[in-house]
Amino acid sequence: MIPGDGIGQEVILQALRVIRASGANVETREFDWGADRYLREGVTVPPDGFAMLARDFDAILAGAFGDPRVKSNIHAKEILLDMRFEMDLYANVRPVRLLDSMLCPLKGAEPRDVDFVVIRENTEGVYTDAGGVFKKGTQDEIAIQEDINTRKGVERIIRYAFEYCERHTKLDGSPRARVLLCDKSNAMTHAGGLWQRVFKEVGAEHPQIAAQHMYVDALCMQMVRDPRSFDVIVTNNMFGDIITDLAAGLQGGLGMAASGNIHPGKTSMFEPVHGSAPPIAGKNMANPFGAILTAAMMLAHLGFTPEAEKIEAAVLEAVRRQKATQDIGGTLGTREAGEWVADFIQHGQLSP
Ligand code: NAI
Ligand code: MG
Repeated sequence: MIPGDGIGQEVILQALRVIRASGANVETREFDWGADRYLREGVTVPPDGFAMLARDFDAILAGAFGDPRVKSNIHAKEILLDMRFEMDLYANVRPVRLLDSMLCPLKGAEPRDVDFVVIRENTEGVYTDAGGVFKKGTQDEIAIQEDINTRKGVERIIRYAFEYCERHTKLDGSPRARVLLCDKSNAMTHAGGLWQRVFKEVGAEHPQIAAQHMYVDALCMQMVRDPRSFDVIVTNNMFGDIITDLAAGLQGGLGMAASGNIHPGKTSMFEPVHGSAPPIAGKNMANPFGAILTAAMMLAHLGFTPEAEKIEAAVLEAVRRQKATQDIGGTLGTREAGEWVADFIQHGQLSP
């Protein structure tokens, strides 16, 4: 566990409480990587840190990184982005599920209408920091931000999406059946062309899955007009980042969204989608459900399927009964919402 900064610490504490309550037989160890340690010791990731994680652990549960005292945000970059890159966690899996219709800003949307997954490429694109600035600060300044797309990187994420589609069902138990490529290949023709060709090739290996395509701008409109049309979406690093914030809006906000950063067969990392939320940090206000659902995702990944299902069922119940934080219409604090979920897992129908 690397709780990190701000509300990361508060929500990971509740996720840990709920993991314990689920009975999953996991050993945990906590690391204090984050702004405090960086400001105290100048260390972001200790030497050999990522190699140690890969060697000694099966999974990582991270909170959030970002602190107003560290203007450069260097520790967040070195802990979080470098972990994705150096541990090669290429598949960012972000389920988008509406647990209760009252959480969705769309008129009349029911839980069955919002149940899709975004598979975001996590190691390339515009996030590699390739590029440069020339004649900085002058009227002639040139800024270049490169979009890196490798055949290997594009192929493995598209393959992951089709395989994910085959292996996973929807919340109601029905099979997933469609993979949609989201890109901007009409304008970004070079990168888009590679994605398009690989998508067709890999799609042909999975004839039972419908392969679909949408431009990212049209997809944004469709996500708001009719999210029912989505099943599995595969996309690059930047579009995945953006559309999953939009998607989080459909499921009750950033406090509800879970994610995994996965390299099959290697130590993978799980984190809520939200950041460290400095304005509400330390106030016992943050919604812990995104982190708790993330913990469930991690447990399922490790093979603790019944424990993960218990956790998801308990969060669903908490949402329905509004045993939740203010951002989703409840009156509880972070700690109390976490306690309610843990209690429900252990004692079932306790609270009326
Ligand atoms: P943020 O996700 O921290 O907050 C965005 C908005 O959502 C705020 O209004 C916040 O109060 C609310 N919010 C977020 N999580 C919530 C929760 N669990 N319960 C209730 N409300 C919640 O994003 P923001 O403000 O852009 O960034 C704050 C800091 O976090 C920055 O330093 C940023 O770099 C960092 N960050 C870190 C991420 C990570 O570690 N994965 C992701 C996004 C931002
Ligand atoms: Mg984001």
